[in-house]
Parts: sequence; structure tokens; C-alpha cells
Amino acid sequence: MASAPISSSNHKEFDELPKENFWDVADIFKWEGFWYGFHQIESIKAFQSHFQACDDDVILASFLKTGTTWLKALCVSIMGRQSSHHQQLGGDEEEEEKDLLVRNISHFYVPTLEVQVYEDASHPDLSGRGLGTPSPRLFHTHLPYNTLPDSIKNSKCKIGYITRNPKDTPVSFWHFFNKILRPGQDPFPFEKAFESFCNGVHVYGPFFDHILSYWTENLKMPHKILFIKYEDLKSNPMQQVKKLASFLGKPFEEGDEEEIEKVIWRCSFERLKNLDVNQNGAICKVPNSFLFRMGTVGDWKNHFTPEMSQRLDQIALMKLQNAGLDLEMNV
Ligand code: A3P
Repeated sequence: MASAPISSSNHKEFDELPKENFWDVADIFKWEGFWYGFHQIESIKAFQSHFQACDDDVILASFLKTGTTWLKALCVSIMGRQSSHHQQLGGDEEEEEKDLLVRNISHFYVPTLEVQVYEDASHPDLSGRGLGTPSPRLFHTHLPYNTLPDSIKNSKCKIGYITRNPKDTPVSFWHFFNKILRPGQDPFPFEKAFESFCNGVHVYGPFFDHILSYWTENLKMPHKILFIKYEDLKSNPMQQVKKLASFLGKPFEEGDEEEIEKVIWRCSFERLKNLDVNQNGAICKVPNSFLFRMGTVGDWKNHFTPEMSQRLDQIALMKLQNAGLDLEMNV
């Protein structure tokens, strides 16, 4: 059943939530400890109420701009090996390659649940969605751990979380939202965007709380939650892909290095960025090309003043104290 159009003005409950403006464009509301647009809250509620996790589902999770597309692609590539989907294509690598070319490798196979699945319907048909359907299914969410549907928390499904250093993330976020919210206009002042990032008042924010929500659970349930850092994937992709594959229950064998290299190459920034579908296609009206900018570590150095850098160091110190988590602040 399609949801009725929602306007914040006809939803009294929004009046009671803390409200701020995001980038002079839209109101965002603090709900369950995090900030969202009102329409997002409606889809998140539908997701929370109706999603039924299966024990063998894999849910990928991330804050925005932390390597979601890359993680999705790697999981598709790893789980696609020997999958029913792979077999439907005759196990033929060329066919598989073509299939990946015509569908966006990551977003078609791994929909972001609260954005692509529960946005318009509270009871969407999930058959045929998620790589490997009927099982194992592969989905994604940008929600923090505490807001996930109970069925994800209570089932045996696995969660793979990717994060990125707290300086490159707001830079990537700024470039992305400028393209989406201000096409053809001057960029939103970086200083103001930085300020809202530091205050945690931005969609899906606060960033540090998002990370900690998964990190804390990862410490309690390492078999359920895998915590990956973008920077580790960059510096040691072989080791990280092996770890990811084992977590996904598709371990590589000794001597499979060539196969791992193939996965790494297939999902590399250069290759994905240059696929025709990623140069010319779009998902939810967002051009796929917006998902590929530089794909490097350390671009924050081209945007931050020394004061900004120190300020974030201090926030990280305060937020992460005693968490035992190194977020590679100064890479
Ligand atoms: P930059 O803006 O710093 O270049 P997300 O997928 O979560 O939206 O994250 C987007 C960021 O990941 C962008 O960072 C993008 O360029 C980078 N990215 C996308 N695909 C990648 C890949 N295959 N390898 C490395 N980085 C990638």
C-alpha cells in the first residue's frame, strides 16, 4: 500500500521534536537521537515496523560518504561467487561482467532499505530484491544501530559496517550535497557545513554517535558485526577483502590470491567510476557519477584550516574517549 503524501505541517508529532535547518534548504528533526528530514522518519518507521530479517541476511551499514558504494560492490563481488545469480548467468564471467555493466553494480543489487525500499510503501515486495534472493539477501542501511528494526537486532543476520576518518568524511559530504542541493549555484560555505558537522546537526548525524553505535555493538558481538575502515581497505585491500569474505561466509582458500585481486580490481574506484552506467546512469534521480569523486585518503588537507583540524581532533578525543577506537584522524 502506498503511503499518503506527507507534509511536516500535518504531522503533529514533528512539532514536539527538536528542529534545525540543514544547509538553509530543509528542516531536519532529532528523532531517536539522530537528525532526519520528516519524510525520512516516515520511511524509517515503515522499515522498523515491517522489515523481517532472515538469519542469513547480510545488512551493510554506513554513515553517508564513508565508502558505502565500495563496500556494496565488494560484497556483491564476493557473495556473487557461486551464487544462484551467478549460476543463472551460467557462471560465465563475461555474462556477469555485462550484467554488472548494465545495472549499477552496487545500488541495484544492494538497495538502501529506508531510501530505496521503504520510501514509497510500507509493505514493499522484497522478492527479487537483494543479491542472492531468496537467500542470502544483501541489503544496506544508513541508520545507526539503535534505530535498526528489532528483527535485524534479534535475528542471526550479519552486519558489515564501514566507516571513514572524520576529516575526509565531511569533505566528501560537502562536495556531494553541493551537487545535489545546489546544482549550478555557488557551493554552500564550507565553514558552515563544517560547523554543522561538528555540532552533529546534519542528516543521519551526529557522525561520531553513528560510529559509536556500531562500534559498541561490534565489541559485544564481533561474530554479528564487522567493523571496516575505508583507510584500511585502501592501504591493505587484500587483507581486508579476505576478512570480509570470511565474515560473509564465503572465505577464500589458500592460494586464491589471483581471485582476490580480481575482486579488488572489479571494485576499484577507477574501474567503477568509468563504467558507462556510472557515468550516465542515475538512482533515485541522483546521477551515479556523484558517487565517484576522488576516492582518496587525505583530501581534507586541501579544505581544512589548522584550526578546523584541531577542533575535530578535540571533538574526536572527547567523543571517543575510552572507546578503544582509532579513527585515523590525521592520515
Ligand atoms: P570522495 O568524495 O572523497 O572521493 P559513499 O559511497 O558512502 O557515498 O562514499 C563516497 C566516497 O567513496 C567518495 O569519496 C567516493 O569517491 C568514494 N568511492 C566510491 N567508490 C569507491 C571505490 N570503489 N574505491 C574507493 N573509493 C570509492
